[in-house]
Amino acid sequence: MTSHVGIIGYPLGHSISPAFQQAAFDLLGLDVTYERWETPPEKLARRFELLREPDCLGANVTVPYKQDALKLVDEIDPLAERIGAINTVVNRDGRLHGYNTDAEGFLRSLREETGFDPTEKRVLVVGAGGAARAVAFALADAGATRIVIANRTVSRAQGLADVVSSTTGIKVEASPLPPDQNDASFNLIVQCTSVGMRGGPEESEAPDVTALVTPGTLVADLVYNPLETPLLREARERGAKVSGGLGMLVYQGAAAFSLWTGQAAPVDTMYAAAKQALGVTV
Ligand code: ATR
Repeated sequence: MTSHVGIIGYPLGHSISPAFQQAAFDLLGLDVTYERWETPPEKLARRFELLREPDCLGANVTVPYKQDALKLVDEIDPLAERIGAINTVVNRDGRLHGYNTDAEGFLRSLREETGFDPTEKRVLVVGAGGAARAVAFALADAGATRIVIANRTVSRAQGLADVVSSTTGIKVEASPLPPDQNDASFNLIVQCTSVGMRGGPEESEAPDVTALVTPGTLVADLVYNPLETPLLREARERGAKVSGGLGMLVYQGAAAFSLWTGQAAPVDTMYAAAKQALGVTV
């Protein structure tokens, strides 16, 4: 019997998850179809009920449902509970378990692609939305000693700083965007907004943080299309190390794959399929 799994979001036009997840199932010879479940809000609850069917492994959840999904599952993993969002659902005998693999995906991509270890590092997180939440918790749990969250809407940065501080015990600071231009002491800057995304309203722009980039800074951008965003180009030109968002996308997907199948994910194959789906020559 063919099993099913898929991605739930609205709209889903941009998602390359079906391409790289299907490549992984096919490589391992698993009889699984990864589907594209574009779901308008009024059909979301019904979509989640269908995940309980015996031939369904679960789902990925993406924009705009990562927070709403918390209310639609039976069990929530403690990390997902703290982050306040789910990106992966596993169906175990009709009960739905929610996980967040974004934090793990981000940390693994940093480690594998740049060798960066956040322990005792100073970090600037740009943005305070869902992606920034996962990144801020990941960095706090990984031992960063200074975390500043800079966001266009500073009240949102403050809200995220407060929740990360209170649940991890690490003092997290909030800042407007742009942050203090003289504070160039960050080991890592993580760009978690949609600025620089292909097809978006600010595709040729970069958040105003380049003054904080030194040759010793690692600049990571969660945007994966294009692979090199305007921010990463500016940072590279200033001599900094850079890391794009495709690694986080693939590694969060690899962690979801392992939750559904109990098997190690074929990351190289997933990476190649993701690049191919983006039209990048591999
Ligand atoms: P996601 O789940 O992808 O993080 P989100 O929750 O909608 O999406 O968050 C989007 C983030 O990008 C927010 O931090 C947003 O800033 P605001 O909180 O001020 O809205 C940020 N963002 C979006 N467009 C931006 C822009 N043009 N300049 C700066 N920040 C922007």
